[in-house]
Amino acid sequence: MEELSNTIRTPTYSHITKEDLDHIYEPAEDSFLLIDALEKDLDLIRERKPSLCLEIGSGSGIVITALGSVIGSQCRYVSTDINPRACNVTRETGRLNGIHIHSVCTDLVSDVIDDVKGSVDILLFNPPYVVTPSEEVGEGDLEYTWAGGKHGREVMDRLFPSVDSLLSLKGLFYLLVLKENDPSDIEQVMSKFGFSCTCVLSRRTGPENLSVLRFFRQR
Ligand SMILES: C[S@@+](CC[C@H](N)C(=O)[O-])C[C@H]1O[C@@H](n2cnc3c(N)ncnc32)[C@H](O)[C@@H]1O
Repeated sequence: MEELSNTIRTPTYSHITKEDLDHIYEPAEDSFLLIDALEKDLDLIRERKPSLCLEIGSGSGIVITALGSVIGSQCRYVSTDINPRACNVTRETGRLNGIHIHSVCTDLVSDVIDDVKGSVDILLFNPPYVVTPSEEVGEGDLEYTWAGGKHGREVMDRLFPSVDSLLSLKGLFYLLVLKENDPSDIEQVMSKFGFSCTCVLSRRTGPENLSVLRFFRQR
């Protein structure tokens, strides 16, 4: 029987090199806020006895690895990233921390949807959310990590219509957003797709007002 903690420790990621960080997202305040929100929601998450967790845009892999460390090996962990180097680093972060992650290089969920359809119990996304000109979205490895285009919404908005087909009936979706992304509008958009929203945690870090939203199916 695995001994699982009620607090989430930051996974080891000392294997990530300076050269990796020229190409992938270095864990930052937003990554840690998402981990803190998962810790705050741990009882709720465990009650659901998740059997499949999916992180979109896993970057270094610390978020899905952190969740894996408190959920355990009875759950399957799948991640995606558009950047192949991030996928390799995610796999390695999982391995170093004892979590097997099936890490797939793809746009959002394109190459995993058939495998995970209707069975994702925990969905995580810390998207590129910074408001930028649309042309900057997807310009290069590092732009992929932050450039969100108009209202910082261009990447996350493409995911919203697929959430219903990804999540299991008891599924939860955790999304990191910035104030400029207009969280109340996101709540309305997701409501049209059949989801209710709760803000789990908010934090001001420097100039950024960040929040983690949790979506679940409306009854
Ligand atoms: C803000 S970073 C978050 C990284 C990591 N999850 C964390 O919290 O530290 C956003 C991540 O999304 C990835 N990404 C951007 N656009 C994507 C897309 N269309 N499909 C999949 N991943 C994408 C980036 O490569 C980057 O790793």
